[in-house]
Amino acid sequence: MLRKSANDIKIMKDKEPIVCLTAYTAPIARAIDGSVDLMLVGDSLGMVLYDYENTLQVTMNQMIDHAKSVVGATTKSCVIVDMPFGSYEESSNKAFKNAARLMQETNCNGIKLEGGYKISKTIKHLTESSIPVMGHIGLQPQSVLIDGGYKVKGKLKSEWQKYIDDAKAVENAGAFAIVLEGMTEPLAAEITSILNIPTIGIGASPKCNGQILVTEDMLGLTNVAPKFVKKYATLDKNINDAVQAYVYEVKKRIFPSKEHIYHMQPEIVKNNK
Ligand code: KIV
Repeated sequence: MLRKSANDIKIMKDKEPIVCLTAYTAPIARAIDGSVDLMLVGDSLGMVLYDYENTLQVTMNQMIDHAKSVVGATTKSCVIVDMPFGSYEESSNKAFKNAARLMQETNCNGIKLEGGYKISKTIKHLTESSIPVMGHIGLQPQSVLIDGGYKVKGKLKSEWQKYIDDAKAVENAGAFAIVLEGMTEPLAAEITSILNIPTIGIGASPKCNGQILVTEDMLGLTNVAPKFVKKYATLDKNINDAVQAYVYEVKKRIFPSKEHIYHMQPEIVKNNK
């Protein structure tokens, strides 16, 4: 099975739901490769792995290091990498330089950046320069300081037009798909029906063409619990149980046992007698 491309994701729009998860490290990436259509090396890694307060501190070097390990550990799922805050807003040229660096140094399948109409000129420049781009509108975590928090969008119909215009601008700029984050169901449904490219929802209802979650959230490895997260496992408890068993066995000298010990070769034992 060949690795899925951005274009393979694009043409899934009306065929079947598109399954996406984040991956920041080789072990998680290896475990989900091929099961998900798309893996996102999201800048949420700043909060999940580094305990930052928000995603604004994440750097290009961090994104490159994590993306290299995710791409290196996988062969099947499409791998998209987030452009971190500060790497693309200033100008289309700066965005191209950083996006090209992400593509060349990590061998990923494309990049994602946040923003609608305002950033559409940059998206156009990137797609016309052969870089597959995934958009991201609605709740934009990189704008949390100016937005005054993580607020759901589209609760009032009077707000809708802005998000519809944003979505259309991202599509017209050549994006292959768009993330809709933190959005009411009717607005997500409206955008999904207007666009020809797939919408990938996170907290944006089943009306989207696909879904994405932060893997550590759905596995129960984080203690954040937004309404939209469903925990499919409680791995924090499994890890704790395993560690307690290890602690017990080391204290009682049960581990390491015979099968974990290296032995000398018989003839060496003889010569040393
Ligand atoms: O950074 C991230 O993980 C994202 C999501 C869409 C989950 O942007």
